[in-house]
Amino acid sequence: MIELLGKPVAQAHKAVLQENMQPLLAQGVTITLGILLVGDDSAAHMYATFMEKVAKGANFGTKLVQLPETATQEEVEAVIREFNEDATIYGVLPLMPMPKHIDTEAVIGVLDPAKDIDGLTTYNIGLVSSGKGGYVPCTPKACMAIIDHYGIDLAGKKVVVLGRSQVVGKPVALLALDRNATVTICHSKTQNLEAELVQADVVIAAVGKAHMVHGSMLKPGCVVIDVGINDLEGQTVGDVDFESAKTVVSAITPVPGGVGSVTTTMMLEGLYEAYHARNGHR
Ligand SMILES: NC(=O)c1ccc[n+]([C@@H]2O[C@H](COP(=O)([O-])OP(=O)(O)OC[C@H]3O[C@@H](n4cnc5c(N)ncnc54)[C@H](OP(=O)(O)O)[C@@H]3O)[C@@H](O)[C@H]2O)c1
Repeated sequence: MIELLGKPVAQAHKAVLQENMQPLLAQGVTITLGILLVGDDSAAHMYATFMEKVAKGANFGTKLVQLPETATQEEVEAVIREFNEDATIYGVLPLMPMPKHIDTEAVIGVLDPAKDIDGLTTYNIGLVSSGKGGYVPCTPKACMAIIDHYGIDLAGKKVVVLGRSQVVGKPVALLALDRNATVTICHSKTQNLEAELVQADVVIAAVGKAHMVHGSMLKPGCVVIDVGINDLEGQTVGDVDFESAKTVVSAITPVPGGVGSVTTTMMLEGLYEAYHARNGHR
């Protein structure tokens, strides 16, 4: 059984990024990420701090704007507009969740698709869905980076995706389809999940339910990409029960230490791409 660790994948991508950044740094170019944090959600706060640290560590600039829990829709959208107009900012990250009274769809609707490095806007979703480029959300991109790094060929394989969210399930299914996999998407209304799972050569789990997939439900020798991040009695675990799965599968991403370790690097790659896209280099 191969443990598909995220760290070597992130390191390999970071090394390429660092090399590509050298000429820009020598010219004094700073590529800045705009981060919008609204309200008191502790996970969003932790992510903002982490993202700032990672971006700075890779020689990117950051501009964090924090608004209180009481911020109005207009105030939130105004920050996005400022980010859109600020030429030093190449990518914008509106952190979720925002307070309940904020219409996040409307906030995303204001975001300039050229700065939407996490693929949230309808414009980028359309491009990705029609295979015409666009920014792919970072988590599905991280899944594919792991699959590529470890040389897993999806062509002709049966891939079962658990979850159909706009940020993970749907885009990761499209990316697998682009690689010529035969893709099945399962969700909360799927009637016989076990019948689907047992046929899967590759399972990509993005549900958000601790240990919902047991090793006994998997096809021997399959590959598991576990996107889930769940709290189970104070421990962070995936959607797949690693202990029972590890004796059945040929390869599996651990949680933590798998997909989650690669996503921020994907974000920085997107930021770098946005710089080149604006400057007409690609
Ligand atoms: N590693 C990372 O960097 C990263 C990034 C983002 C998210 N995550 C994690 O990934 C997980 C999924 O995130 P998300 O944002 O996609 O979650 P989400 O928006 O809550 O979507 C969950 C999906 O799972 C489906 N589902 C729920 N119960 C199910 C069941 N019993 N059987 C099959 N499908 C079921 C839902 O189906 P319906 O559509 O029918 O409701 C939905 O499509 C979470 O644990 C999250 O923390 C990790």
